[in-house]
Amino acid sequence: MDFTVNANGTLVILETVRKTAPEAVFIFTSTNKVYGDTPNSLPLIELETRWELDPAHPYARDGIDETMSIDQTKHSLFGASKVAADVLVQEYGRYFGMKTAVFRGGCLTGPGHSGTRLHGFLSYLMKCAVSGREYEIYGYKGKQVRDNIHSADLIRAFDAFYQAPRPGEVYNMGGSRFSNCSMQEAIAWCESISGRKMNVRYMDQARIGDHIWWVSSVEKFKAHYPGWRLTYDVPAILKAIHAACV
Ligand SMILES: NC(=O)c1ccc[n+]([C@@H]2O[C@H](COP(=O)([O-])OP(=O)(O)OC[C@H]3O[C@@H](n4cnc5c(N)ncnc54)[C@H](O)[C@@H]3O)[C@@H](O)[C@H]2O)c1
Repeated sequence: MDFTVNANGTLVILETVRKTAPEAVFIFTSTNKVYGDTPNSLPLIELETRWELDPAHPYARDGIDETMSIDQTKHSLFGASKVAADVLVQEYGRYFGMKTAVFRGGCLTGPGHSGTRLHGFLSYLMKCAVSGREYEIYGYKGKQVRDNIHSADLIRAFDAFYQAPRPGEVYNMGGSRFSNCSMQEAIAWCESISGRKMNVRYMDQARIGDHIWWVSSVEKFKAHYPGWRLTYDVPAILKAIHAACV
């Protein structure tokens, strides 16, 4: 089903746009899962509340950029279906000159996100904080790191591309160094914003292929679109989610 929706579905939409509206701007929300579990081979250091990249590594300052290989790695079947769509979207830009773009998202979220147990981590975490429902952490000592972007910042990035499209481009897109947290840090923020102690259960087993540390570099996008910048960091995102769920 993943492949039918993500890969075949994207092909159907690309073909329809090519035949009926070839001048349209086409934006695809790809994912950092196209890089599979390659990020887990980065040299990570364990800190008190999070895993962190060795400061000497080229990705340490700004996060992981688009030069990381998407090949020969464990993607998950979902990731493989997104790779297929990601490459098709690039190809329709390069081969047919359509105004396509691939945005490889880190964690995309916001007050309207329908977070569930295995998807939409900040949204679901805050729902658990407010309701008292148990939250399960899967592996990595709860020190796994994600960057998080508010939907408003994401949509402004899409709009910047829409105003001045560059056919076939690929961008990593997320909260970057500006907005990221570990699971432990996110729980502390949720407790402080909601004023409630969370009910957390730790499971030793990590999810298969789950990233230990992911922070997107948005430097390429910023270089192409200098007017764009991130405005929401993790506490600001969590406050917006909290306001929407109380
Ligand atoms: N949220 C994230 O952290 C994140 C990260 C990277 C990439 N993405 C990508 O962003 C996109 C949106 O994700 P989201 O987190 O907003 O998820 P979501 O579940 O909130 O939204 C998905 C939308 O797709 C619609 N949909 C599902 N199956 C469909 C079908 N067969 N035909 C038509 N519509 C269908 C759903 O009704 C829903 O409106 C996805 O392509 C996802 O892979 C999300």
